[in-house]
Amino acid sequence: MRDFTDKVAVITGAGSGIGRALAVELAARGARLALSDVDDEGLRETVRGCAGHGGQVHGYRLDVADRVAVLAHAEQVGADFGRVDLLVNNAGVTLLASVADGSWEDLEWVMNVDFWGVVHGTRAFLPLLTESRGHLVNVSSVLGLAGAPMQSGYNAAKFAVRGFTEAVAQELRADGVPVGVSCVHPGRIRTNIMHNARNDGQRDYQAVREQFDRTVDISAEYAARAILRGVARNRARILIGADAYRTDILTRLLGPWYLRVVAGGGRRPVTSTGRRPR
Ligand SMILES: NC(=O)c1ccc[n+]([C@@H]2O[C@H](COP(=O)([O-])OP(=O)(O)OC[C@H]3O[C@@H](n4cnc5c(N)ncnc54)[C@H](O)[C@@H]3O)[C@@H](O)[C@H]2O)c1
Repeated sequence: MRDFTDKVAVITGAGSGIGRALAVELAARGARLALSDVDDEGLRETVRGCAGHGGQVHGYRLDVADRVAVLAHAEQVGADFGRVDLLVNNAGVTLLASVADGSWEDLEWVMNVDFWGVVHGTRAFLPLLTESRGHLVNVSSVLGLAGAPMQSGYNAAKFAVRGFTEAVAQELRADGVPVGVSCVHPGRIRTNIMHNARNDGQRDYQAVREQFDRTVDISAEYAARAILRGVARNRARILIGADAYRTDILTRLLGPWYLRVVAGGGRRPVTSTGRRPR
């Protein structure tokens, strides 16, 4: 898909960050947009930002973790637009928690949104994508390539997205189904993700957020353009940012030895008592 003019694009989590930037970029390139989010206000702002470009834009309130709602959403979008050419399963949340201290509820939350949300979207829209010979984009993370401390839930969800997406790609290819599939692995991108993160309450996560805001300089707009470039080139794996490229190379060159290099650099935040936890 090299030209996005008049293509119908569905984007989940479009109320902020990468999803919003993708929506605005696609609107500027003449696409028709079905945008969704759980955040009504954020979604309204994105729809306003896209409407200026003159194309068809609908905003839908959608919780991607809700299977029944996602299936109904695909039907609704099919009825509203008549076709779907591009689906970006982008909605996501993050969790900063140690394996020992994190709650069961937060683990389920991150899996429900980040993993099940992608599965729901893929299954719900695959018939429409097949009809249009379209393209599926699932957003994983650099943390779908390498493990890191305090990220076990997010790591699990994003590795699962990668496994699921690569299996979908293989299956479609084997069956001769002409749908492109890309798995996106962004490095650290300046968005609201850290501000919406849950945590285990045991450590100084304010410092982690501040460090993220201070040091991350890749914009959501840059990430959006990289994703669309990857779609246009039908790339199976789309890496964004030097940290994603570095991690991809290290994990492939070093195999399990990457654990000493990559994760060894990601020190755990200290606890409020100043003690570095177990
Ligand atoms: N920002 C980064 O550093 C980074 C790095 C790697 C991967 N990612 C991934 O990129 C994607 C986009 O994240 P972002 O950085 O733009 O974050 P963001 O917080 O700015 O945007 C995420 C959007 O998803 C929405 N959302 C959350 N739960 C939802 C649900 N249950 N149903 C529907 N929408 C929901 C939020 O309301 C928000 O609008 C996520 O999948 C994230 O894991 C981000």
